[in-house]
Amino acid sequence: MQLEHFHHSPAFAIIAPCLQEEPPYLLSHAKKPVLIMRNKTTKKPTKKPLQNMENEKQDNEETIAKYGELVLSLPKERGWMTQHLVQYQGFWLSPACAFKGAPLLHQHFHARPSDIFLATFQKSGTTWLRALMFATMNRALHDVSSDQYPLLTTGPHDCFPFLDAYIHQTDSISHLNSRPILSHDASPELFSTHMPYALLPKSVTASSSGCRFVYVCRNPKDVLVSKWIFMNKMRPKQLAPLSLQEAYDLFCQGVSHYGPFWDHVLGYWKASLEFRDKIFFLKYEDLKKDPFVHLKRFAEFLGQPFSLEEERKGVVQEIIKLCSFENLSHLEVNKTKVQWFSSQLVVKNSFFRKGQVGDWKNYFTDEMARRLDQITDDKFNASGLTFGPAAE
Ligand code: A3P
Repeated sequence: MQLEHFHHSPAFAIIAPCLQEEPPYLLSHAKKPVLIMRNKTTKKPTKKPLQNMENEKQDNEETIAKYGELVLSLPKERGWMTQHLVQYQGFWLSPACAFKGAPLLHQHFHARPSDIFLATFQKSGTTWLRALMFATMNRALHDVSSDQYPLLTTGPHDCFPFLDAYIHQTDSISHLNSRPILSHDASPELFSTHMPYALLPKSVTASSSGCRFVYVCRNPKDVLVSKWIFMNKMRPKQLAPLSLQEAYDLFCQGVSHYGPFWDHVLGYWKASLEFRDKIFFLKYEDLKKDPFVHLKRFAEFLGQPFSLEEERKGVVQEIIKLCSFENLSHLEVNKTKVQWFSSQLVVKNSFFRKGQVGDWKNYFTDEMARRLDQITDDKFNASGLTFGPAAE
Protein backbone atom coordinates (compact mmCIF):
# COMPACT_ATOMS: atom_id res chain seq x y z
CA MET A 1 0.00 0.00 0.00
CA GLN A 2 1.36 3.42 -0.90
CA LEU A 3 1.52 6.58 1.13
CA GLU A 4 -0.61 9.06 -0.72
CA HIS A 5 1.60 10.97 -3.18
CA PHE A 6 4.63 9.53 -1.55
CA HIS A 7 7.92 10.83 -2.92
CA HIS A 8 11.47 10.67 -1.82
CA SER A 9 12.55 13.39 0.57
CA PRO A 10 15.60 13.67 2.86
CA ALA A 11 13.70 12.23 5.80
CA PHE A 12 12.38 9.27 3.84
CA ALA A 13 13.84 6.42 1.96
CA ILE A 14 11.97 4.08 -0.33
CA ILE A 15 13.16 0.58 0.17
CA ALA A 16 13.46 -1.80 -2.73
CA PRO A 17 11.05 -4.72 -2.26
CA CYS A 18 13.89 -7.24 -2.07
CA LEU A 19 15.30 -5.40 0.94
CA GLN A 20 12.02 -5.06 2.74
CA GLU A 21 12.40 -6.03 6.32
CA GLU A 22 10.68 -4.79 9.40
CA PRO A 23 12.71 -3.83 12.42
CA PRO A 24 13.80 -6.34 15.00
CA TYR A 25 12.02 -5.96 18.31
CA LEU A 26 13.39 -6.61 21.71
CA LEU A 27 10.90 -8.95 23.17
CA SER A 28 10.08 -7.44 26.50
CA HIS A 29 8.74 -10.49 28.26
CA ALA A 30 11.38 -13.01 27.30
CA LYS A 31 13.27 -14.68 30.10
CA LYS A 32 16.51 -13.54 28.52
CA PRO A 33 17.10 -10.97 25.76
CA VAL A 34 15.62 -12.22 22.54
CA LEU A 35 15.50 -10.38 19.24
CA ILE A 36 12.63 -11.33 17.00
CA MET A 37 13.00 -10.39 13.38
CA ARG A 38 9.47 -9.76 12.29
CA ASN A 39 10.17 -10.20 8.61
CA LYS A 40 8.78 -12.58 6.12
CA THR A 41 11.71 -14.96 5.99
CA THR A 42 12.13 -15.48 9.73
CA LYS A 43 8.47 -15.33 10.68
CA LYS A 44 7.67 -17.87 13.36
CA PRO A 45 5.16 -20.52 12.40
CA THR A 46 1.73 -19.10 12.92
CA LYS A 47 -0.84 -20.83 15.07
CA LYS A 48 -3.43 -20.12 12.38
CA PRO A 49 -4.16 -22.69 9.74
CA LEU A 50 -3.11 -21.69 6.24
CA GLN A 51 -6.72 -21.42 5.17
CA ASN A 52 -7.33 -18.70 7.77
CA MET A 53 -4.31 -16.80 6.52
CA GLU A 54 -5.70 -16.97 3.00
CA ASN A 55 -9.07 -15.77 4.26
CA GLU A 56 -7.42 -12.90 6.06
CA LYS A 57 -5.54 -11.89 2.92
CA GLN A 58 -8.76 -11.94 0.97
CA ASP A 59 -10.53 -9.94 3.71
CA ASN A 60 -7.74 -7.39 3.56
CA GLU A 61 -8.07 -6.99 -0.17
CA GLU A 62 -11.84 -6.62 0.10
CA THR A 63 -11.56 -4.12 2.96
CA ILE A 64 -9.01 -2.07 1.10
CA ALA A 65 -11.14 -2.04 -2.03
CA LYS A 66 -14.24 -1.08 -0.02
CA TYR A 67 -12.46 1.68 1.87
CA GLY A 68 -10.78 2.81 -1.35
CA GLU A 69 -14.27 3.65 -2.59
CA LEU A 70 -15.50 5.09 0.70
CA VAL A 71 -12.52 7.43 0.90
CA LEU A 72 -13.75 9.30 -2.17
CA SER A 73 -16.91 10.36 -0.35
CA LEU A 74 -15.24 11.60 2.84
CA PRO A 75 -14.48 15.24 3.77
CA LYS A 76 -10.96 16.07 2.69
CA GLU A 77 -8.49 18.69 3.91
CA ARG A 78 -4.92 19.67 3.30
CA GLY A 79 -2.43 17.23 4.82
CA TRP A 80 0.78 17.91 6.72
CA MET A 81 2.92 15.08 5.44
CA THR A 82 0.62 13.75 2.74
CA GLN A 83 -1.33 15.81 0.24
CA HIS A 84 -4.64 15.22 2.01
CA LEU A 85 -6.21 13.99 5.21
CA VAL A 86 -9.72 12.55 5.28
CA GLN A 87 -12.23 12.80 8.09
CA TYR A 88 -13.49 9.45 9.30
CA GLN A 89 -15.72 9.05 12.36
CA GLY A 90 -14.70 12.54 13.46
CA PHE A 91 -10.92 12.05 13.13
CA TRP A 92 -8.49 13.19 10.44
CA LEU A 93 -6.52 10.29 9.06
CA SER A 94 -4.07 9.77 6.22
CA PRO A 95 -6.19 8.14 3.50
CA ALA A 96 -3.67 5.51 2.46
CA CYS A 97 -2.53 4.42 5.91
CA ALA A 98 -4.49 5.00 9.10
CA PHE A 99 -7.87 5.24 7.37
CA LYS A 100 -7.51 1.90 5.61
CA GLY A 101 -5.58 0.37 8.46
CA ALA A 102 -8.18 1.02 11.18
CA PRO A 103 -10.70 -1.53 9.87
CA LEU A 104 -7.93 -4.08 9.32
CA LEU A 105 -6.97 -3.68 12.94
CA HIS A 106 -10.57 -4.34 13.97
CA GLN A 107 -10.75 -7.41 11.79
CA HIS A 108 -7.43 -9.03 12.47
CA PHE A 109 -5.61 -7.88 15.58
CA HIS A 110 -6.12 -10.31 18.46
CA ALA A 111 -5.31 -8.60 21.72
CA ARG A 112 -4.25 -10.54 24.77
CA PRO A 113 -5.46 -9.50 28.22
CA SER A 114 -1.87 -8.88 29.25
CA ASP A 115 -1.08 -6.45 26.39
CA ILE A 116 -0.09 -2.91 27.31
CA PHE A 117 -0.46 -0.06 24.83
CA LEU A 118 1.38 3.23 24.87
CA ALA A 119 -1.03 5.67 23.23
CA THR A 120 -0.12 9.20 22.23
CA PHE A 121 -1.03 12.02 19.92
CA GLN A 122 2.00 12.52 17.66
CA LYS A 123 4.85 14.59 19.13
CA SER A 124 3.66 14.25 22.69
CA GLY A 125 6.58 12.26 24.07
CA THR A 126 6.16 8.81 22.52
CA THR A 127 9.91 8.28 22.15
CA TRP A 128 10.57 9.15 25.78
CA LEU A 129 7.76 6.97 27.13
CA ARG A 130 8.82 4.08 24.94
CA ALA A 131 12.24 4.16 26.53
CA LEU A 132 10.82 4.53 30.06
CA MET A 133 8.29 1.78 29.55
CA PHE A 134 10.85 -0.62 28.14
CA ALA A 135 13.38 0.09 30.87
CA THR A 136 10.80 -0.16 33.65
CA MET A 137 9.28 -3.40 32.41
CA ASN A 138 12.61 -5.07 31.72
CA ARG A 139 14.70 -4.08 34.69
CA ALA A 140 14.79 -7.61 36.03
CA LEU A 141 16.18 -8.70 32.70
CA HIS A 142 18.65 -5.92 31.93
CA ASP A 143 20.73 -4.02 34.45
CA VAL A 144 19.99 -0.36 33.73
CA SER A 145 23.46 0.73 34.76
CA SER A 146 25.16 -1.69 32.36
CA ASP A 147 27.15 -0.24 29.48
CA GLN A 148 25.63 -3.07 27.40
CA TYR A 149 22.08 -1.87 28.04
CA PRO A 150 19.91 -2.44 24.92
CA LEU A 151 18.72 1.18 24.74
CA LEU A 152 22.29 2.32 24.24
CA THR A 153 22.47 0.57 20.91
CA THR A 154 18.80 0.10 20.00
CA GLY A 155 16.59 3.16 19.48
CA PRO A 156 13.42 3.47 21.60
CA HIS A 157 11.31 2.84 18.50
CA ASP A 158 12.84 -0.60 18.06
CA CYS A 159 12.08 -1.74 21.59
CA PHE A 160 8.52 -2.78 20.86
CA PRO A 161 6.14 -2.60 17.91
CA PHE A 162 4.32 0.48 16.66
CA LEU A 163 0.90 -0.93 15.85
CA ASP A 164 0.07 1.69 13.26
CA ALA A 165 3.05 0.69 11.13
CA TYR A 166 1.62 -2.81 10.80
CA ILE A 167 -1.69 -1.51 9.61
CA HIS A 168 0.09 0.32 6.79
CA GLN A 169 0.55 -3.02 5.14
CA THR A 170 -2.01 -5.42 3.91
CA ASP A 171 -0.98 -8.69 5.44
CA SER A 172 1.18 -7.93 8.40
CA ILE A 173 -1.31 -7.88 11.24
CA SER A 174 -0.97 -11.64 11.15
CA HIS A 175 2.63 -11.11 12.13
CA LEU A 176 1.49 -9.62 15.40
CA ASN A 177 -0.97 -12.39 16.03
CA SER A 178 1.68 -14.98 15.41
CA ARG A 179 3.98 -13.56 18.06
CA PRO A 180 5.23 -16.51 20.02
CA ILE A 181 4.06 -16.99 23.55
CA LEU A 182 7.28 -17.50 25.41
CA SER A 183 5.95 -17.75 28.87
CA HIS A 184 2.90 -19.44 30.24
CA ASP A 185 2.16 -16.66 32.67
CA ALA A 186 1.50 -14.46 29.60
CA SER A 187 3.82 -11.64 30.61
CA PRO A 188 2.80 -8.28 29.12
CA GLU A 189 3.67 -7.44 25.59
CA LEU A 190 4.06 -3.77 24.72
CA PHE A 191 2.70 -1.87 21.72
CA SER A 192 2.42 1.76 20.81
CA THR A 193 -0.25 3.52 18.77
CA HIS A 194 -1.47 6.98 17.79
CA MET A 195 -4.99 5.72 17.08
CA PRO A 196 -7.77 7.65 18.85
CA TYR A 197 -9.43 5.60 21.59
CA ALA A 198 -12.73 5.62 19.71
CA LEU A 199 -11.17 4.03 16.64
CA LEU A 200 -9.53 1.12 18.44
CA PRO A 201 -11.21 -2.28 18.42
CA LYS A 202 -13.52 -3.06 21.33
CA SER A 203 -11.44 -6.17 21.91
CA VAL A 204 -8.77 -3.77 23.17
CA THR A 205 -10.80 -0.93 24.74
CA ALA A 206 -13.56 -2.92 26.51
CA SER A 207 -12.94 -2.97 30.24
CA SER A 208 -13.33 -6.75 30.13
CA SER A 209 -10.43 -7.09 27.64
CA GLY A 210 -7.83 -6.78 30.38
CA CYS A 211 -5.59 -4.67 28.10
CA ARG A 212 -4.06 -1.59 29.71
CA PHE A 213 -3.03 1.78 28.32
CA VAL A 214 -0.48 4.42 29.17
CA TYR A 215 -1.51 7.71 27.58
CA VAL A 216 0.84 10.66 27.55
CA CYS A 217 -0.40 14.08 26.50
CA ARG A 218 1.47 17.34 26.00
CA ASN A 219 0.35 20.94 25.85
CA PRO A 220 -0.99 21.66 22.35
CA LYS A 221 1.24 24.68 21.71
CA ASP A 222 4.42 22.60 21.99
CA VAL A 223 2.77 19.71 20.14
CA LEU A 224 1.91 22.01 17.26
CA VAL A 225 5.42 23.45 16.94
CA SER A 226 7.06 20.03 17.28
CA LYS A 227 4.68 18.51 14.75
CA TRP A 228 5.07 21.36 12.26
CA ILE A 229 8.86 21.03 12.29
CA PHE A 230 8.77 17.22 12.11
CA MET A 231 6.16 17.08 9.36
CA ASN A 232 7.96 19.62 7.20
CA LYS A 233 11.02 17.37 7.34
CA MET A 234 8.87 14.43 6.29
CA ARG A 235 6.91 16.32 3.67
CA PRO A 236 7.64 15.27 0.10
CA LYS A 237 9.62 17.88 -1.81
CA GLN A 238 6.94 17.94 -4.48
CA LEU A 239 4.54 19.53 -1.98
CA ALA A 240 5.28 23.12 -0.97
CA PRO A 241 6.39 23.39 2.66
CA LEU A 242 3.66 24.15 5.17
CA SER A 243 4.12 27.58 6.75
CA LEU A 244 3.68 27.89 10.51
CA GLN A 245 0.56 29.98 9.97
CA GLU A 246 -0.93 27.30 7.69
CA ALA A 247 -0.10 24.53 10.14
CA TYR A 248 -1.51 26.63 12.98
CA ASP A 249 -4.79 27.26 11.15
CA LEU A 250 -5.17 23.58 10.26
CA PHE A 251 -4.39 22.52 13.84
CA CYS A 252 -6.92 24.99 15.27
CA GLN A 253 -9.56 23.54 12.94
CA GLY A 254 -8.66 20.11 14.26
CA VAL A 255 -7.03 19.05 11.00
CA SER A 256 -3.86 17.10 11.69
CA HIS A 257 -2.99 13.38 11.66
CA TYR A 258 -5.22 11.57 14.20
CA GLY A 259 -6.72 14.94 15.20
CA PRO A 260 -8.52 16.96 16.38
CA PHE A 261 -5.87 17.06 19.09
CA TRP A 262 -8.46 17.84 21.81
CA ASP A 263 -10.76 14.95 20.86
CA HIS A 264 -7.80 12.56 20.88
CA VAL A 265 -6.81 13.66 24.39
CA LEU A 266 -10.37 13.74 25.70
CA GLY A 267 -11.09 10.24 24.40
CA TYR A 268 -8.34 8.79 26.56
CA TRP A 269 -8.92 11.22 29.44
CA LYS A 270 -12.59 10.29 29.81
CA ALA A 271 -11.80 6.60 29.52
CA SER A 272 -9.10 7.01 32.18
CA LEU A 273 -11.68 8.49 34.56
CA GLU A 274 -14.09 5.69 33.84
CA PHE A 275 -11.59 2.82 33.95
CA ARG A 276 -8.91 3.88 36.40
CA ASP A 277 -7.17 0.51 36.41
CA LYS A 278 -7.08 0.38 32.65
CA ILE A 279 -5.66 3.73 31.59
CA PHE A 280 -2.78 5.60 33.14
CA PHE A 281 -2.99 9.22 32.01
CA LEU A 282 0.17 11.27 32.19
CA LYS A 283 1.28 14.76 31.13
CA TYR A 284 4.65 15.34 29.46
CA GLU A 285 5.13 18.52 31.49
CA ASP A 286 4.49 16.77 34.81
CA LEU A 287 6.94 14.04 33.92
CA LYS A 288 9.54 16.67 33.03
CA LYS A 289 8.98 18.48 36.30
CA ASP A 290 8.99 15.52 38.63
CA PRO A 291 10.12 12.35 36.87
CA PHE A 292 10.81 10.49 40.12
CA VAL A 293 7.24 10.70 41.41
CA HIS A 294 5.63 9.98 38.06
CA LEU A 295 7.90 7.10 37.12
CA LYS A 296 7.10 5.41 40.42
CA ARG A 297 3.36 5.77 39.81
CA PHE A 298 3.83 4.58 36.26
CA ALA A 299 5.71 1.47 37.44
CA GLU A 300 2.95 0.69 39.94
CA PHE A 301 0.35 0.92 37.20
CA LEU A 302 2.39 -1.40 35.01
CA GLY A 303 2.39 -3.91 37.83
CA GLN A 304 6.12 -3.54 38.40
CA PRO A 305 6.41 -1.23 41.44
CA PHE A 306 9.91 -0.28 42.55
CA SER A 307 10.83 -2.01 45.78
CA LEU A 308 12.36 -0.11 48.69
CA GLU A 309 15.59 -1.91 47.94
CA GLU A 310 15.52 -0.68 44.34
CA GLU A 311 14.78 2.86 45.49
CA ARG A 312 17.65 2.67 47.95
CA LYS A 313 19.98 1.48 45.19
CA GLY A 314 18.91 4.40 42.96
CA VAL A 315 17.29 2.30 40.23
CA VAL A 316 14.54 4.89 39.66
CA GLN A 317 17.09 7.65 39.08
CA GLU A 318 19.15 5.35 36.85
CA ILE A 319 16.15 4.75 34.59
CA ILE A 320 15.32 8.47 34.50
CA LYS A 321 18.91 9.28 33.55
CA LEU A 322 19.12 6.51 30.97
CA CYS A 323 15.91 7.68 29.23
CA SER A 324 16.56 11.41 29.54
CA PHE A 325 16.62 13.58 26.46
CA GLU A 326 20.22 14.52 27.23
CA ASN A 327 21.34 10.90 27.29
CA LEU A 328 19.28 9.41 24.46
CA SER A 329 19.69 12.30 22.02
CA HIS A 330 23.48 12.05 22.19
CA LEU A 331 23.67 8.33 21.50
CA GLU A 332 25.08 7.42 18.12
CA VAL A 333 22.15 5.09 17.41
CA ASN A 334 19.66 7.93 17.85
CA LYS A 335 21.72 10.43 15.87
CA THR A 336 22.17 8.22 12.84
CA LYS A 337 19.30 5.75 13.04
CA VAL A 338 17.07 5.28 10.03
CA GLN A 339 13.79 4.12 11.50
CA TRP A 340 11.93 1.53 9.44
CA PHE A 341 8.34 1.71 10.63
CA SER A 342 7.15 -0.07 7.53
CA SER A 343 8.54 -0.61 4.09
CA GLN A 344 6.99 2.68 3.00
CA LEU A 345 7.51 4.80 6.09
CA VAL A 346 11.08 5.39 7.04
CA VAL A 347 12.17 8.24 9.29
CA LYS A 348 15.71 9.50 9.65
CA ASN A 349 16.85 10.65 13.10
CA SER A 350 14.00 13.13 13.67
CA PHE A 351 12.66 12.09 17.06
CA PHE A 352 14.97 14.21 19.19
CA ARG A 353 14.86 17.95 18.75
CA LYS A 354 14.82 20.09 21.91
CA GLY A 355 12.70 18.13 24.37
CA GLN A 356 11.70 21.27 26.26
CA VAL A 357 8.52 22.67 27.74
CA GLY A 358 7.49 26.04 26.32
CA ASP A 359 9.47 26.10 23.07
CA TRP A 360 6.28 27.47 21.46
CA LYS A 361 7.30 30.89 22.81
CA ASN A 362 10.01 31.00 20.17
CA TYR A 363 7.43 30.61 17.41
CA PHE A 364 4.04 32.00 18.43
CA THR A 365 2.81 35.57 18.57
CA ASP A 366 0.83 36.51 21.67
CA GLU A 367 -2.33 36.34 19.61
CA MET A 368 -1.56 32.81 18.38
CA ALA A 369 -0.96 31.64 21.95
CA ARG A 370 -4.09 33.36 23.23
CA ARG A 371 -6.32 31.85 20.55
CA LEU A 372 -4.99 28.33 21.00
CA ASP A 373 -5.36 28.61 24.80
CA GLN A 374 -8.92 29.76 24.31
CA ILE A 375 -9.75 26.79 22.09
CA THR A 376 -8.16 24.43 24.63
CA ASP A 377 -10.13 26.01 27.49
CA ASP A 378 -13.37 25.71 25.54
CA LYS A 379 -12.74 22.12 24.52
CA PHE A 380 -11.56 20.92 27.92
CA ASN A 381 -14.14 22.95 29.77
CA ALA A 382 -15.85 20.80 32.41
CA SER A 383 -13.64 17.80 31.66
CA GLY A 384 -11.40 18.55 34.63
CA LEU A 385 -8.31 18.45 32.41
CA THR A 386 -5.96 21.44 32.39
CA PHE A 387 -2.35 22.00 31.44
CA GLY A 388 -1.75 24.76 33.97
CA PRO A 389 1.50 26.58 34.75
CA ALA A 390 3.64 23.44 34.29
CA ALA A 391 3.04 23.80 30.55
CA GLU A 392 4.35 27.36 30.41
P1 A3P B 1 10.37 18.73 20.48
O1 A3P B 1 10.16 18.71 19.01
O2 A3P B 1 9.55 19.78 21.17
O3 A3P B 1 11.80 18.80 20.87
P2 A3P B 1 7.28 11.93 19.86
O4 A3P B 1 8.29 11.04 20.47
O5 A3P B 1 5.87 11.70 20.36
O6 A3P B 1 7.39 11.97 18.37
O7 A3P B 1 7.60 13.40 20.39
C1 A3P B 1 8.77 14.05 20.00
C2 A3P B 1 9.04 15.15 20.99
O8 A3P B 1 9.53 14.59 22.22
C3 A3P B 1 10.14 16.08 20.47
O9 A3P B 1 9.84 17.35 21.06
C4 A3P B 1 11.37 15.44 21.08
O10 A3P B 1 12.49 16.29 21.15
C5 A3P B 1 10.84 15.06 22.46
N1 A3P B 1 11.60 14.00 23.10
C6 A3P B 1 12.17 12.91 22.54
N2 A3P B 1 12.80 12.17 23.45
C7 A3P B 1 12.65 12.81 24.63
C8 A3P B 1 13.11 12.53 25.97
N3 A3P B 1 13.86 11.47 26.25
N4 A3P B 1 12.75 13.39 26.96
C9 A3P B 1 11.99 14.47 26.69
N5 A3P B 1 11.55 14.79 25.43
C10 A3P B 1 11.87 13.96 24.42
